[in-house]
Amino acid sequence: MLTAGKVVAFPTETVYGLGADAANPEAVRRIFEIKERPADHPLIVHLASVEQLPYWALDIPDEAYLLAEQFWPGPLTLILRRDSRVLDVVTGGQDTVGIRIPGHSVALALLQQFGGGVAAPSANRFGRISPTTARHVFEDLGDQLGLIIDAGPTSVGLESTIVSLTGPEPLILRPGAISVTALEKTLGGHSLKFAAGTACQRAPGMLSSHYAPRTPFRVIEKGVLLEAVQRLQAIGDKVVVMIRSSDADILPHIAAFQAMPGDPDEYAQELYAVMRALDKGDFDCILVEAPPDTTPWQAIRDRLYRAAGRTEAGGIHNIRH
Ligand code: TXA
Ligand code: MG
Repeated sequence: MLTAGKVVAFPTETVYGLGADAANPEAVRRIFEIKERPADHPLIVHLASVEQLPYWALDIPDEAYLLAEQFWPGPLTLILRRDSRVLDVVTGGQDTVGIRIPGHSVALALLQQFGGGVAAPSANRFGRISPTTARHVFEDLGDQLGLIIDAGPTSVGLESTIVSLTGPEPLILRPGAISVTALEKTLGGHSLKFAAGTACQRAPGMLSSHYAPRTPFRVIEKGVLLEAVQRLQAIGDKVVVMIRSSDADILPHIAAFQAMPGDPDEYAQELYAVMRALDKGDFDCILVEAPPDTTPWQAIRDRLYRAAGRTEAGGIHNIRH
């Protein structure tokens, strides 16, 4: 399929990807058509082995090899200077390229057999929630795909951590399963910065509304959660709450809730499936109990605040706006 220039949906440990031969411009263009994704959004090139890196990237810094050795195959994407043979359609015309070796046996088998680079974004329609099961892919894009490889639910559940190594110092472009702490340790203890626009950086107004459900979606601090629910219920809204606390003060007063895991890895694994399921339900508003402001929850907070189109958990005002 890949060799013939076809697009294939395949599992990775993070989310399902929509892959095409990264050296075939027609095949890569088809990804953008299927996803309805703007052409200036670059794609990650997936490889089977670190030996392929110099084919795609130039001036590869030592940090890249340190991180590769520690975290590949795995949920880490490195942004590097691109070799001139990397297609513009893959990089969105930028002079950098994103590379990742996924930590999933099926993805690796596919990449090894194919032998080249596979350009792949998440296999969802542009701007929607990433797919963590083959069924999610089928629901979003099934009518346009010849092949969806089903390997069950993904284990990580959130997209890869993206680190740019093209500037004067490493920069985190997207938090993910590989934590800042783990990256800093591998890079010799230097503290890493977040690019403007990641929710962790808390720069107001910088977020694009990615990963969004259609139902209004708000992250609310636990202290005002009950009040928020009651206000919405009082005006006749059907509210559902994604809640971690099994708090006797709150639960009896909430008409509909979805219990979420207390462990961040389990929470991440379930998050997108829960968001998709609740989005299909007949709710006027989805409220989420704000997760702790600690490193293990960083990537989850980023995705929740993006889904809410906000940079921070809100109070009870303007919940429906
Ligand atoms: O976990 C993942 O990374 C999944 C699986 C399928 O590997 N892929 C994924 O791809 O999330 P996508 O296209 O949905 O998100 C990739 C992000 C985009 O926000 C894109 O802008 C950014 O990576 N990106 C890709 N190449 C880049 C580059 N050269 N410079 C800056 N950002 C880049
Ligand atoms: Mg995506």
